[in-house]
Amino acid sequence: MKYFLDSAKIDEIREAYDTFGIDGVTTNPNHIMNSGKPFYTVLGELAEFVKARNIEGWDKFPISVEINPHLDNADEIVKMGAEIAKMCKNFVIKIPCTEAGIAAARKLEGMGVRTNLTLVFSGSQALIAAKNKSLFVSPFIGWKENSGEDCKQYIKDIVDIYKNYGYYGKTQIICAAVRTGKQIVDCAVSGADIVTAGLQVFKDSFYHAFTDYGLMKFQAAWDKTITD
Ligand code: E4P
Repeated sequence: MKYFLDSAKIDEIREAYDTFGIDGVTTNPNHIMNSGKPFYTVLGELAEFVKARNIEGWDKFPISVEINPHLDNADEIVKMGAEIAKMCKNFVIKIPCTEAGIAAARKLEGMGVRTNLTLVFSGSQALIAAKNKSLFVSPFIGWKENSGEDCKQYIKDIVDIYKNYGYYGKTQIICAAVRTGKQIVDCAVSGADIVTAGLQVFKDSFYHAFTDYGLMKFQAAWDKTITD
């Protein structure tokens, strides 16, 4: 399963890429706002990042860029999406799964611009993303689980739907808004292609108290042993 970093902060992206090897990045208007930088400045930084590391191309290191969320007309979404896609070969255009967004994603994919249908909360939304050949679909896990839903079956259902119709692996399932190590495991068990999460979520998922406990025990043993 691939790991994408959900962030627009270039220092976080650099750290995650250089230390544990993330496979891509997802952004959204919140992340851009939290970076404290203008929208196009962030896009420029992301384009420079992939150039510097020789990972240009959406197939090597996809970066989902969400366009103006106020646009509710397919033609306007297509226009802005096509303009942004021209800026960097890594950019995948992230579009809300609304009627206008679905129509726009279909047109953009027809033009060779890769898309990510986001704000997906049901199997039927995931199905239309795949039917229209979006590269990614982003079912949100954390938001549903915050409301008391268990998402393991939800992701399994999307995986099954995709397998039933030959979409599995073609439209890749990015489990989004992932908050915990348990959710990462649930997504992996369910057959998701990708999880996207913040840097601290990944760091927390690498930690286990028994690892520290075991390390202390082994250090104590090492110290009581002649090792030179
Ligand atoms: C995913 O692609 C989204 O950017 C993200 O997960 C949205 O949710 P959050 O900001 O609540 O984490």
